Amino acid sequence: MARILAEQRDELRWGQTYTAADFGQRFIDNYGWVELFGTRGHYINDKVAAGFLVLGPGIEYPDHHHLAEEVYIPLTGGAAWRMGDAPFRERCGGEVIHHASNMKHAMRTGSEPLLALYLWRGGPLAAKSTVTGTIAGGKD
Ligand SMILES: [Fe+2]
Repeated sequence: MARILAEQRDELRWGQTYTAADFGQRFIDNYGWVELFGTRGHYINDKVAAGFLVLGPGIEYPDHHHLAEEVYIPLTGGAAWRMGDAPFRERCGGEVIHHASNMKHAMRTGSEPLLALYLWRGGPLAAKSTVTGTIAGGKD
């Protein structure tokens, strides 16, 4: 799947919810999603959204939350995830990570990029998350 995504990357409609003002230019240069279905998807659906998130190496996606509940399935290993006030812990590719509505969560990549499948339901599907965390070291 990763190979197909990489090969077709120029044909896909990539999006970004944030701007450099949120997390800095380095984050923006290393972050994007492509929605398969949802209000912004290749297939329109206003109940459920799903797509792929990519984070480059050495990126922190700080604590954020949103009304929609969310399931992530990382397709690559090596990234650290946290939920609530728990410490970051590395999650394997293929794990199922559920974020309940308005549960804060964060991700941090190591030396490899993260590719993850996401699913959203039960809230505004194109809403920008509420960010409560900050990036260690600032926004560059
Ligand atoms: Fe989320």
